[in-house]
Amino acid sequence: MAAKKPRVVIIGAGIAGLTAANKLYTNPNSKDLFEICVVEGGNRIGGRINTSELGGDLIELGATWIHGIENSPIHKIAQEIHSLESDQPWENMDGVLDDPLTLAENGYELNPSLVKPISRLFKKLVDFFHGEVSEDGLSKEEKGCLLKVSTTNCAAEKPSLGSFLQQGLDAYWGFGEGEEEFKGYGFWSRKSLEKAVFAIHENMQRIHTAAGDLYTVDYKAESEYRFFPGIEITIAKGYQSIIESIASVLTVGSIQLGKKVTKFEWQPNSPSEMENGHDIRPVKLHFSDGSVFSADHVIVTVSLGVLKAGICENSGMFDPPLPKFKTEAISRLGYGVVNKLFLELSPTHDTESEKIMRFPFLQLAFHNSTSEFSNPEIPWWMRKTSYLCPIYRKSKVLKSWFAGKEALELESLKDEQIIDGVTSTISCFLPNSNSHEMYNGNLNSVGIPNGRELKFSKVLKSNWGNDPLFLGSYSYVAVGSSGDDLDTLALPLPLNTSHESNSSPPLQILFAGEATHRTLYSTTHGAYFSGIREANRLLQHYLINGV
Ligand SMILES: Cc1cc2nc3c(=O)[nH]c(=O)nc-3n(C[C@H](O)[C@H](O)[C@H](O)COP(=O)(O)OP(=O)(O)OC[C@H]3O[C@@H](n4cnc5c(N)ncnc54)[C@H](O)[C@@H]3O)c2cc1C
Ligand SMILES: *[C@@H]1O[C@H](CO)[C@@H](O)[C@H](O)[C@H]1NC(C)=O
Ligand SMILES: *[C@@H]1O[C@H](CO)[C@@H](O)[C@H](O)[C@H]1NC(C)=O
Ligand SMILES: *[C@@H]1O[C@H](CO)[C@@H](O)[C@H](O)[C@H]1NC(C)=O
Repeated sequence: MAAKKPRVVIIGAGIAGLTAANKLYTNPNSKDLFEICVVEGGNRIGGRINTSELGGDLIELGATWIHGIENSPIHKIAQEIHSLESDQPWENMDGVLDDPLTLAENGYELNPSLVKPISRLFKKLVDFFHGEVSEDGLSKEEKGCLLKVSTTNCAAEKPSLGSFLQQGLDAYWGFGEGEEEFKGYGFWSRKSLEKAVFAIHENMQRIHTAAGDLYTVDYKAESEYRFFPGIEITIAKGYQSIIESIASVLTVGSIQLGKKVTKFEWQPNSPSEMENGHDIRPVKLHFSDGSVFSADHVIVTVSLGVLKAGICENSGMFDPPLPKFKTEAISRLGYGVVNKLFLELSPTHDTESEKIMRFPFLQLAFHNSTSEFSNPEIPWWMRKTSYLCPIYRKSKVLKSWFAGKEALELESLKDEQIIDGVTSTISCFLPNSNSHEMYNGNLNSVGIPNGRELKFSKVLKSNWGNDPLFLGSYSYVAVGSSGDDLDTLALPLPLNTSHESNSSPPLQILFAGEATHRTLYSTTHGAYFSGIREANRLLQHYLINGV
């Protein structure tokens, strides 16, 4: 009998799946060892990497940043394929904007002396949370505050990122001077403004974690998350260029698009068939087009959201169902929706005048929605928007990020509704006569002479929440789960528990993807390394066992 090559089928042509395929293909010791195939439910490769274009600029609807370039394999690929430079302008080509103009609801421009201490406090709290704060240079308030939160939050029964931050702000106020005479901001008190500025940063944190509510983010486990060192940058030729490079080593036809798996049939404990028929591979994949394909090993890289849907009663995605330790980890872990919104300013703004073009990096301090001062013209789904800014200094394209239920709502809105909502929100923030004494004229010089005149010609947004191939954006460690759950998600099935000779074939279902990496979950780095990890698992199995 001619030796039959083991067949490896990779589910999903995102960065995890393609990296695993690339590794299996290019490993010098495994040339022609496997029959490899990638099946992808969608009609493109890249998954949560989705580079697009608006108004002549290159933009990212999914993964955007390389979160730290030092030793980053993504950065290395980008350098090798010369993706870090381009003639076409791209999102954040001039880095992160760092000169925000902060406006408060109902028309007030905030003095940096009010904004900066709160932004700094927030940064110190987050650094502390990641174990990166040193006592040097801390103010008396900051020191007292960190000491206090470190003792009270850790003592709490289920400490969350949300409760930690709230306690941080409370403690900071506790060490402050108290409410002094405060004028010039209408019905805003100092405390309510500080709270609103703090909320701008909390809302950015909702986007970083994909948690609609920071009180659902586990305090301890979330601090295991690691950034790569070095600066963070975007990719000039787009994240998609990385995907294409990784996929380029695969042979033609080894990636099949439009192949959605509907059922994984596997053999956790019935080896009998295997002994008699050499043709029978242990895993049978059923596709939405009715076809069936068998495999010795599958590497599942679908999102945690798709797995959550797949373990619902009646879903029948796994037959037999996944063991309890897997389904419990899948249920406990958090997975949320984050969307990006891009708006192109209409050409009427495109005058020769430089100053009209410079739309500011606008930070928005909202009243809390239950406050009697909150403006009814602002739609609820805009109320947690941290900022609106051009994608680079002179771009006509503006962007904003949304998380949680606001992000989901965005998916259901028509373009005109979005334009209306954004325009009326900006109108409610532009300084009016009430705030005349505070208004220092910055706004005119940065290009919004009058919010009511703002016109947008195009809208482009992502739809990660409702797309059945993703059902959300990325994962987080929810209160009630832990880093162990991320590790559990990575375990292959069936579990290698015994050495019995009649145990079922090993490594039938392997798991890769962003949500299977304990310290780099939610990022392209995590997805990439998980692909390498699972390819290595197979290589080791075959090379060590000498097949
Ligand atoms: C809005 C947004 C912004 C982000 N920003 C960043 C960032 O700045 N930096 C960063 O590092 N990361 C960022 N990320 C996260 C990053 O995009 C992901 O962590 C990474 O791309 C996940 O890769 P993956 O291979 O694990 O999963 P995916 O890319 O989801 O790949 C899984 C593939 O499986 C396919 N699939 C699903 N179900 C089936 C099925 N039943 N049958 C067949 N195929 C199926 C899907 O279509 C998909 O192509 C962002 C993500 C989003 C959504
Ligand atoms: C909103 O403000 C009201 C009073 O103005 C307060 O009672 C409530 O706790 C605030 N809600 C939040 C979420 O801060
Ligand atoms: C991917 O980008 C295209 C535009 O290039 C967009 O139509 C599509 O909705 C995006 N996918 C998701 C899931 O957002
Ligand atoms: C199963 O466990 C044994 C002993 O721990 C190990 O030698 C073997 O490589 C494992 N097999 C797989 C497929 O992981």
